[in-house]
Amino acid sequence: MTESVSAARPPQGANGAPLPDVIAVDGPAASGKGTIAAGVARALELHYLDSGSLYRLVALKALRTGVAFDDEPALAILAAGLDVRFDDGAITLDGADATAAIRQEDVSAGASRVAVHGSVRRALIERQRAFRRPPGLVADGRDMGTVVFPDARIKVFVTASAEERARRRHKQLIAKGISITMDGLLRDIRERDARDTGRAAAPLKPAPDAVLLDTTNLTIDEAIARVLALYRAAVDRTNAEDPKA
Ligand code: DC
Repeated sequence: MTESVSAARPPQGANGAPLPDVIAVDGPAASGKGTIAAGVARALELHYLDSGSLYRLVALKALRTGVAFDDEPALAILAAGLDVRFDDGAITLDGADATAAIRQEDVSAGASRVAVHGSVRRALIERQRAFRRPPGLVADGRDMGTVVFPDARIKVFVTASAEERARRRHKQLIAKGISITMDGLLRDIRERDARDTGRAAAPLKPAPDAVLLDTTNLTIDEAIARVLALYRAAVDRTNAEDPKA
């Protein structure tokens, strides 16, 4: 991991007041970015956005209402009108708990398919930016550092080999009593990677100023510690350059 994060001045909102800090954590499926981002948010007592849950909610709603994953105009309307609430890790869709439903494998595959549509992505942008509230936000996804929060204080791009990611997902599913083969999981992960990376709208790629964090041989706690160290270094650098910032 390189330690060269630029010390940008805190970005300012329309009224000139500094905007709350964002820590952007992007990366491919099952890289550990969600667990890392949630751990960093807990450690720093910041808000947390799991942006993938929004694409999952659009896919779930599409499945429930019979909208096809390639019907971009209808999906964009669903995305703009999502009736969703986030409370401390619990997600409510149309007034009913959807926390577990959005993690099902058919919804995971659907989320990756609805996410290729530019108008669906645009419909979700302001909803994501609304999570940026004091004292700050840790946001995880695919385009947090490139599109949604290009002025994030630090950007981390989490990677791990496809085999290691399949192994982690396998362990999680087995713990939940779901039986699935490693071969099938590896194939799904590679297909999702190809779709997320190859799409025209906001493809999965590190921002030019992102720090790469390969977690293949790191524990979650080690990965969280590295992000915390990067953030503290960036804040210290800004304070040293401009004590009033
Ligand atoms: O992070 P996740 O696995 O819950 O995301 C589900 C899908 O949503 C993933 O296949 C790609 C898409 N996604 C996206 O395109 N942009 C984001 N910021 C987050 C997720």
